[in-house]
Amino acid sequence: MQFIVAIDGPAAAGKGTVARAVAAEFGFAHLDTGLLYRAVGAKAMMRGRGVIVAEIATEIAQGLTEDDLTREGLRTARVAQAASKVAALPAVRAALLDFQKAFAKREGGAVLDGRDIGTVICPEAEVKLYVTASDEVRAERRYQELKAKKPETKLETVRIDLQQRDIRDASRDVAPMRAPDDALLLDTSELSIDAAVAEAVALVTKRFEKA
Ligand code: C5P
Repeated sequence: MQFIVAIDGPAAAGKGTVARAVAAEFGFAHLDTGLLYRAVGAKAMMRGRGVIVAEIATEIAQGLTEDDLTREGLRTARVAQAASKVAALPAVRAALLDFQKAFAKREGGAVLDGRDIGTVICPEAEVKLYVTASDEVRAERRYQELKAKKPETKLETVRIDLQQRDIRDASRDVAPMRAPDDALLLDTSELSIDAAVAEAVALVTKRFEKA
């Protein structure tokens, strides 16, 4: 049985949490596609000594392995910025396409979260969600997460990082971040995680019964 749940939205809106909860509830496999871009961005920064070079990033994306996704340090703000830069390169996105499509079509169901899952990777997904939240709430959430690992983190720096990435991700020519027309919109600004998960699970249950 194939069944795809596509979850998109900006950083720190709660899409990862919703995706993990839905996957656990239904026994589906889960792919955080942001990790692919983070892994490419991190390696490209290292190879380019702090500078992203398109050819190098593309080569890295073409040779990316599952081990690259479990490396330490992929969750930092610096790597997030690098991810957003390599994600704007069409050749990098093209190199990562087949892996994501194959993951989505695996037997037993799959949940993918990212920026272009419902629009580009899996326009045929049975369920599409767009998880969002206000800029303020997202900055505060990411600040709390990052501060737990790095106490000197500043809220203002986190706010700027999210803003820069939102603008870059939404305005790039290829696969820009946007809500698919047929997605259910989940604004988690004033919704608890439990309530957001419950809404997502209810929608998946409804579609699952029909499939
Ligand atoms: O979701 P996360 O914050 O880990 O994503 C890091 C970056 O990877 C995003 O800012 C975005 O530029 C890029 N990305 C993307 N398409 C996806 C997932 C992530 O362009 N499907």
